Amino acid sequence: MSTVTPTGTASTGAALSPAAALAISLENEHAAHNYHPLEVVVSHGDGAWVVDVAGRRYLDCLAAYSAVNFGHGHPALVTAAKDQLDRITLTSRAFHNDRLGPFVTALAKLAGKDMVLPMNTGAEAVESGIKIARAWGYRVKGVRPNNATIIVADGNFHGRTTTIISFSNDEQARADFGPFTPGFISVPYGDAAALEAAITEDTVAVLLEPIPGEAGIVVPPAD
Ligand SMILES: Cc1ncc(COP(=O)(O)O)c(C=O)c1O
Repeated sequence: MSTVTPTGTASTGAALSPAAALAISLENEHAAHNYHPLEVVVSHGDGAWVVDVAGRRYLDCLAAYSAVNFGHGHPALVTAAKDQLDRITLTSRAFHNDRLGPFVTALAKLAGKDMVLPMNTGAEAVESGIKIARAWGYRVKGVRPNNATIIVADGNFHGRTTTIISFSNDEQARADFGPFTPGFISVPYGDAAALEAAITEDTVAVLLEPIPGEAGIVVPPAD
């Protein structure tokens, strides 16, 4: 169990090494307080293990919220990244490059889709999904201009952009950030009848986490 200290850091209760204390104090002083990390200052990782600045080893059961499920420092990925950096760092989308075509072809095949749109973050992916659903609503379904609605679930977590917090129930994430984006209807998670009742001629999408995480680990009912 951890407790959140007045500085916003979550304490594990373990004594901090001087190096860890310094790293945390620098973050607290100069990084925006938008997160409450555990008091563990990681410096290295290898596979499922990470090591902190005092040399203490931890089994990393979080894997950066699944972003490194393949393990820290996976040799194939590190080699591919280094090879690419040696060839060219960034081309922007002003030019074609020799890697994007093969990458999106493989990703589209893996996802079973005709086309893909790579994004940097989860919130951007959700933002793009919202835009695509709205555009489909107006261009294909015939929804009246600016009337599209998207149905979401109570307790959702889809990111922290202004539009996404507009349909969050987390007051901490919303406080002082209004006015919010309209066009979202929230129903209780796992309540198929409530979801069905919310569908109207203006509905363009239903946006759900398969298993909500921020609301607790909520496994949906079997039906
Ligand atoms: C279900 C879900 N959606 C969206 C996001 C937002 O992703 P990001 O933090 O990359 O913007 C997260 C991040 O944890 C997530 O768990």
